Amino acid sequence: MSQQTLVLIKPDAVARGLIGEVVSRLERKGLTIEEMRMRTMDAALADAHYADHVEKPFYPPLKEFMTSGPLVALIVSGDESIAAVRALAGATDGRKAVPGTIRGDLSLSNRENLIHASDSPESAKREIALWFS
Ligand code: TYD
Repeated sequence: MSQQTLVLIKPDAVARGLIGEVVSRLERKGLTIEEMRMRTMDAALADAHYADHVEKPFYPPLKEFMTSGPLVALIVSGDESIAAVRALAGATDGRKAVPGTIRGDLSLSNRENLIHASDSPESAKREIALWFS
């Protein structure tokens, strides 16, 4: 079933010149880039985007990182795209993500892990509305 998912190419990826690398991996998988927008997250958007995490101890440094510079937001679509993009991204912690995944190949951090991808149809819908309304 075709789905839409929300992807963020995080500020570390933008600063490292990896926008093309990440977009290329999504495209080579066969996914469709429907929308793509560069912007910088402000505090309010960070709190809304990470509503499930705002109370967690790792949130303050995560917010600092995510608002530190421009990122690229995308709507990505394709058959089972939510699971497909999560698989391409790899495990949250880049030190543990398996080689072959974006994080496994390119990140050595549990925070600066290059990509965000919606984890369910409900979060995809919520996040797409947040970033592209
Ligand atoms: P989470 O939703 O658990 O991971 P994912 O991005 O793989 O869906 O966490 C959201 C982001 O929060 C994660 O990409 C990086 C950051 N984070 C930390 O900085 N420290 C942590 O211990 C965890 C679990 C996440």
